[in-house]
Amino acid sequence: MKRIIALILVLIMTFTFSVDVCFATAPDKPSRQKITSILPGNHKLSVMWNKVEGDNVKYLIRIATDENFTENVKDIIIKGSDNDYTKTKLVNGTKYYVKVRTFITRDTGKKIYGNWSPKKSVVVKSTAIYKNTSITGVPELRFRKKEDDGDLLVLVNKYYGLSSDYYPSDMVSVASKYSTYSGAKMKSVAYKAFKKMYNAAADKDLNFKICSAYRSYSQQRSLFNNYMYSRGASTAFILSAYPGRSEHHTGLAIDLLTGRNGWAMSNSFGNTKEGKWIKKHCAEYGFILRYPDGKTDITGYGYESWHLRYVGKDVAKEIMSNGLTLEEYLDKLPPGYKKS
Ligand code: DAL
Ligand code: ZN
Repeated sequence: MKRIIALILVLIMTFTFSVDVCFATAPDKPSRQKITSILPGNHKLSVMWNKVEGDNVKYLIRIATDENFTENVKDIIIKGSDNDYTKTKLVNGTKYYVKVRTFITRDTGKKIYGNWSPKKSVVVKSTAIYKNTSITGVPELRFRKKEDDGDLLVLVNKYYGLSSDYYPSDMVSVASKYSTYSGAKMKSVAYKAFKKMYNAAADKDLNFKICSAYRSYSQQRSLFNNYMYSRGASTAFILSAYPGRSEHHTGLAIDLLTGRNGWAMSNSFGNTKEGKWIKKHCAEYGFILRYPDGKTDITGYGYESWHLRYVGKDVAKEIMSNGLTLEEYLDKLPPGYKKS
C-alpha cells in the first residue's frame, strides 16, 4: 500500500513539474498545425496547412516514405507568409507521409517548436503528363494501328499512332557488339539489314552502335515525360514523341552513336565520318534518315542525324536520293502543310 501511495506521489510531482515547464514556454510557443490538403501530382505532391499569425513564424515540413519518418526524410523550412509547398522530383507510385510544425526563433537564436500536425499521406501519381489536357500541342490521332500486319511502310508520327499494347512481330535481340545497352530488340528484317550495313562500314574502319531500338509504349512515356520535366513542353515536342507515336515502337527504327564524337547523342554525329557515311549509304541497306534537317514542318521533329528507319531498299533509295520524308513519299502531309 505504501508503495502505491509513493508511486501516486511521484506521478503527481512529475505532472506538476511538466505543467510548470509547459506554462513557462506556453506564451511564445506556436500552436499545433493542421494540414488542410495534400494533393498528388506527377513526381510531386502539394501540401497546404493552417496559417499562423505572428512575427518570425516559420514552418518545418517533414516528408518521408514511411509513417515513422525514418526513410528518405526531407525537411523543408518555409517562411511564415506562405502556407503551402510543392515538393517535386518524387517517385511516381510511391506513398509519401507529410507532417508540419511551426517554429519561432528567439532573439537568443533558440528555436521554439510547436507540436507536429497529425501526419497525412498521399501516393504520387504515375499519370503521363502528356495526357494532361492543360498541355496543348498534342495533335488528334488520325489513325491508330492496333496490330502488326507486316507493313514496312507503316507511318508513325504526330498524327498516326500505335495502340499502347501494339507489339511488333518477328522481333529479335540485338547482339551486344552492335549496341550500347543490353536487351535491345528490333524487327528481324531491319536487324539483318543493319548487320550488313555495320559490316560494310567496318570494312571502311567505321564504327557505330545502336543506342536505342524498339521502345514500348511505357518506355516511350517515361522518356517523353523526362523531356517534359527536364526541358519543358516546347523542347520535348520537338525532340521526343508522345507514347504510342514513336517510330521506335514499330521495331523498325534505331538510333546510332559513334565513339568518334564521344558517343554523344547530338547532331555532331552527322559530322563524323560515320554519320556522313550513314547518310550516303544507308539507303543501300533499306534505311532512311527519318528526321532530315529542314523538314520539321513535315515530320514535326528537329533534325536527328542519328535516327534511322527501315523501309526496304527500293523505297529508301527513292526517299534518300530525292531528299524526301516518309510523309512526302506516302503523300500524307500534316494538316495545313502547303507543298511548295
Ligand atoms: N526522337 C523521336 C522523335 C522519338 O522519340 O521517337
Ligand atoms: Zn530515334
